[in-house]
Amino acid sequence: MKHSYTLKAPAKINLLLEIIGDRADGFHELVMVLQSIDLADIVQLHPLGGDRIEIHCNHPEIPCDQRNLAYRAARLLQDKYPGNAGVSISLQKNIPIGAGLAGGSTDAAAVLVGLDLMWNLGLTQTELQDYAATLGSDIPFCVSGGTALALGRGEALTPLPDLDQLYAVLAKYQSLSVSTPWAYQTYRQQFGASYCRDPQLLDHRRRAAHSSDLLVAISHRDVLQVPQHLYNDLEKVVLPQYPLVQALRDQFEKLGALGTMMSGSGPTVFGLAESRIQAERLAGQMRVAIADPDLDLWVTQFCSSGIQLLSSSP
Ligand code: C5P
Repeated sequence: MKHSYTLKAPAKINLLLEIIGDRADGFHELVMVLQSIDLADIVQLHPLGGDRIEIHCNHPEIPCDQRNLAYRAARLLQDKYPGNAGVSISLQKNIPIGAGLAGGSTDAAAVLVGLDLMWNLGLTQTELQDYAATLGSDIPFCVSGGTALALGRGEALTPLPDLDQLYAVLAKYQSLSVSTPWAYQTYRQQFGASYCRDPQLLDHRRRAAHSSDLLVAISHRDVLQVPQHLYNDLEKVVLPQYPLVQALRDQFEKLGALGTMMSGSGPTVFGLAESRIQAERLAGQMRVAIADPDLDLWVTQFCSSGIQLLSSSP
C-alpha cells in the first residue's frame, strides 16, 4: 500500500549572484552562492487512484494546474516511470511568492523527493537533481540545500561548509513582486555588451569562483566576513526600477545589519545578524522605521539541509 508523505521545503537566499555570460540555451552563465533558510513551505503528498495529479494550495494566487512547478515535477516523474498511482499534492505556502526566495522551486524539489519515496523509485540524489534541472535552474539546489556554490545555469553544485550560525531578517512588500525573466532580460539589454564570450575566459571565471573572497570566508565559517562579500548583479536593474526595494536595503544598512542585499531577482531584501536576539532587534527596528502594513518581515536562520521528510503514514 502507498503511504502519504509530509515534507519540509525551505526557501533560499543568494549570498552571491554574478552574471558572467550568455549560454547557447538562452539562459545566463552564473556564479552563485545559495543558502537555505528555515522559512519553509510544507508539502503533503497523498496517493490517488488512476493517474490524476491534483494540487491544493492555501494561497489563492497560486495556480493549481500545469503552470505550477510542483505539478510539472509530478508529471515529469509520472512520464518517466509510468504505472505509478496518481498523487494529490497539498502546498502550505509560508514562503512569499514572486519574492526571489525560490518558493515554487523548493515545492517542486519536495515533490520529486516525496514521489521518489512514495513510488519506491530508488533515485540517487544526482538523478533527482538531473530531473530537477530540467524543470528550473534553482530546483537542483533546493533538493540538497545547505550552502552551495552554483555554476552554469545554477545547476552545477558544489556543497560548501555550513553557515548555520547566521540569521537573515527578510523584508518584502506584500504587494510587490518582480518577474525573474524580466530582471534577466533587462540585465541582458543593459549589460549584454560586456558579457564574457571567450570560452577560455569563461572557464577561468568559473575556476576563480572557487577561491573568491566570499568562498574563503565561508570556508573559515567567518560570520563577520561573509556579510562583507555579498554581491548580486541583478540589483543593478531591479533597484533603480523599484525605489522601495532600494529603501529597504538602505534601511538595513542604516540600522547596522552585518550585511544587506536583495535575494535573487528580488524584491525580497535581507539583512544579516549573528544571533537570534540581534536579528529580532533588527526586525523590530525595521518595523518601527518603515511603519507600512504592506511590509512583511521574517526572522530566519541559515540552515544546512534542503528537502526534509517530516513524516509518513499509511
Ligand atoms: O530556470 P528558471 O525557470 O528558474 O528561470 C527563470 C528565468 O530566469 C528564465 O526564464 C530566464 O529568463 C532567467 N534565467 C537566466 N539564466 C539562468 C537562470 C534563469 O536567464 N541561469
